[in-house]
Amino acid sequence: MTQPAPPAARPAPASGTGPRVIEKKHTVTLIPGDGIGEEVAEQIIKIIQATGVSLAWDRQVAGQKAQAKSGSALPPALLDSIRKHKVALKGRINTPIGTGYESPNVQLRKILNLYASVRPVKNIPGLRARFEGIDLVVVRENTEDIYSGIEHEVVPGVVQSLKIVTEVASTRIARYAFEYAVRHGRKSVTCVHKANIMKQADGLFLACCRKVATGFPQIAYKEAIADSACMQLVLNPYAFDVMVMGNLYGDIISDLCAGLVGGLGAVPGMNVGDEIVVFEAIHGNAPHLEGQDLANPLSLLVPATHMLDHIGEREAASRIMSGVSAVLQEGQTITRDLGGTAHTSEMAAAIISRMPPAAAPGRP
Ligand code: IPM
Ligand code: MG
Repeated sequence: MTQPAPPAARPAPASGTGPRVIEKKHTVTLIPGDGIGEEVAEQIIKIIQATGVSLAWDRQVAGQKAQAKSGSALPPALLDSIRKHKVALKGRINTPIGTGYESPNVQLRKILNLYASVRPVKNIPGLRARFEGIDLVVVRENTEDIYSGIEHEVVPGVVQSLKIVTEVASTRIARYAFEYAVRHGRKSVTCVHKANIMKQADGLFLACCRKVATGFPQIAYKEAIADSACMQLVLNPYAFDVMVMGNLYGDIISDLCAGLVGGLGAVPGMNVGDEIVVFEAIHGNAPHLEGQDLANPLSLLVPATHMLDHIGEREAASRIMSGVSAVLQEGQTITRDLGGTAHTSEMAAAIISRMPPAAAPGRP
């Protein structure tokens, strides 16, 4: 099972006499998405460029524009690009409500078998939040549950929506959560479920978590019923470390957790498969802000820093986040939703200007 890969070894800097070393250039699929996607993506590109990281973008269209042009919200060229480069950064693609095509965000997870949604919930220094010092991770099953989208009308006025839970997918996500806990030095994994009501579906999920837990005696295993987990999260979020759950609870609880640390912009989304990781904004595409240069860039910038980390550019990622924290702390150049008056492009420029310089080659 693959994870965000360990940082690739950076090539040694070329010396005056030695052979010329060619820097490896990463290529990442960029899917700006709908609404504010394009204008925010432009700023993210500039910020990453300012770090000096050697990175090429393979820009791909998805969502409404792609649907209108090619009849598919997820054109084959986009899927090919992600399969080829194995790393993508994605803004939010519009999901029609009530009617229309299946959410392209969800389709992408299923088509590429990105079975784990990982959402680390951590305070960003300088970002005002209800709680400080939060550090937990929501691990969400990403391919089935009620998100299977299997619905039908039984008779007029009665519809059925099927919640699919399989032993294979439940075991896979439980194992992912425990392995993540081990890799990241975490202490506990809490399984969130509603097996008191859905005795079969959530009962199976719970049974799989229990079974996997026995293989990880070094990690404390806990259980919480979903409604109670929500209340405990709001009262005492410090009680949680890694949380593992089905698709719908993961959707709801990750938004709840984002609310604890200052909003959706603070929490990145990572959709992880065996080989591919798609980093995404978990915010909406804010169509009311489109074309006005007013959106908060953090919702795509924070996942972008996790993407940099994943491709081995940890230093660039942390320089960007230092710039973000400096700008937030100063409070002069922040967007309206954060209480300021700055445009997206102004906040991005401020982040670049507050980024600490890169460490000299050879120094840690
Ligand atoms: C998320 C979003 C999506 C989901 C929507 C946009 C389909 O809320 O990534 O959390 O429900 O998974
Ligand atoms: Mg959501």
